[in-house]
Amino acid sequence: MSTKKKIAVLPGDGIGVEVTASAARVLTAACDAAGIELQLDEYSFGTDCYHANGTAFPDVTREGCLAADAVLLGAVGSANPVNHDELGLLDLRKALGLYANIRPITPFAELSGATPFRPEILDGVDFVIVRELAEGLYFGDHAGDDERATDECFYTRGAIERIARAAGAMARERGVKVTSVDKVNVLSTSKLWRATFTDVFASEFPDVELEHMLVDAMAMISIQRPASLGVVATSNMFGDILSDECSVLAGGLGMLPSGSFGAPGPSFYEPVHGSAPDIAGQGVANPIGAILSAAMLAEHSLGSIEVAQAIVKGVRGALASGLRTRDIAGGGGHVVGTEAFTQAVIEQLSAARA
Ligand code: NAD
Ligand code: IPM
Ligand code: MN
Repeated sequence: MSTKKKIAVLPGDGIGVEVTASAARVLTAACDAAGIELQLDEYSFGTDCYHANGTAFPDVTREGCLAADAVLLGAVGSANPVNHDELGLLDLRKALGLYANIRPITPFAELSGATPFRPEILDGVDFVIVRELAEGLYFGDHAGDDERATDECFYTRGAIERIARAAGAMARERGVKVTSVDKVNVLSTSKLWRATFTDVFASEFPDVELEHMLVDAMAMISIQRPASLGVVATSNMFGDILSDECSVLAGGLGMLPSGSFGAPGPSFYEPVHGSAPDIAGQGVANPIGAILSAAMLAEHSLGSIEVAQAIVKGVRGALASGLRTRDIAGGGGHVVGTEAFTQAVIEQLSAARA
C-alpha cells in the first residue's frame, strides 16, 4: 500500500517564502526517515499573487488545496494591508470549512532567557488557545464611508457548540480545564457564547472543568499566571490578539505554530506570525513556528506522532546546541540565519537516528 501523501504548499509573501522552504525541508527529511512518501505541490497565494493575478486565492490554488491531504502555508500580506481580499486567508478558511484554530503555547526551557519572564513564571507553561475561526467579527458585514464605519460581529449557536466541543475534547485528552474567554459584560455575542459553552459542558463534558473569564482579565492572567491555563477557548478576534501576546512566553511570534481543523477534508497548518515585511528577504526569519506547524501536520494529517516528535526533538536539539535566530537571541547563544538553523534541525534529525 502506498503511503504517498499530497501536501499543498502555499509559501505566500515575505518571510512566508523563507520559513515554508525550511518547514518543507524538515518535514521531507523526517518523513523520508519514517518511510512516508510526500508529494509537495506549490501554489500561488496571497498579496503578491493578488497584485499579479487580480486574486489572492486563484481557482487552481483552491482546487490544489481541496485535493491535498493537508495544506501548509507560510504567511501572507504586505507592509500596508488595506483589505482582506489581498490576503486570501479568510476565503481559504471558508473554502476548507475550517472552524477550529489550535495554537499551542509550549515554551522551550532553553529559551526562557529570551523572554522578559522570570523562569518561575514559565515553569509548567503548556496550554492551547482554541480560536474560533469561521464567524465573529471577521465574517460579518464591513461597511463605512469617511464619516462612519461598522463591522458586524455575529455568532450562531451551532458555531459556538462545535468550538466548545473541540475545546472540551482537547481538555479531556490533556486532563486540563477549559477557560472560555469572552466580553459578556458588553457583547451580545458573548452572552450567547457563554450560555452555549455552559450548556455544552453541562450536557457533554460533565467531567471537564469549565471556567469563564473576561478577555481583558485574560490578557493579564495569561502572562501573570500562564502555568494555570489548560485550554483557552475564545472567539475569532480575541484569539488572534491573545495568541500574539502569549507568543512572548515562548520567545516571540516566530515560535508559534498552528493547525486549523473543520469540515472533512484537508486541515491547514501555518505559523502564527505574518509576512514580516521589516525582515523579509534578509535570511534572518525564525523558521521554528513554521517547522513546528509541519510537526502538527505530521501528527494530525499524516497520522505520524513519531515524525511529529522527531521534528520537535530536532528543534530542541538545535536550540540546545546554542543556535539562535536573531529574534530569540536575547538570552545569548550563537546567532545564525534561517538557512543555518534549518540545516541544524535536519542534522539533529539524523543524529537522533544514528
Ligand atoms: P508580523 O507577524 O508579520 O510581524 C510582527 C513582528 O514580528 C515584526 O517585527 C516581525 O519582524 C516579527 N516576526 C514575525 N515573525 C517572525 C519570524 N518568523 N522571525 C523573526 N521575526 C518575526 O505582523 P505585522 O508586521 O503586523 O504584519 C505584516 C503582514 O502580515 C500584514 O500584511 C498582516 O496582515 C500579515 N499577517 C499575516 C498572517 C498570516 O499569514 N497568517 C498573520 C499575521 C499577519
Ligand atoms: C492570523 C492573522 C490573520 C487573522 C490576518 C492576516 C487576517 O493575523 O492568522 O493570526 O487575523 O486571522
Ligand atoms: Mn494574527
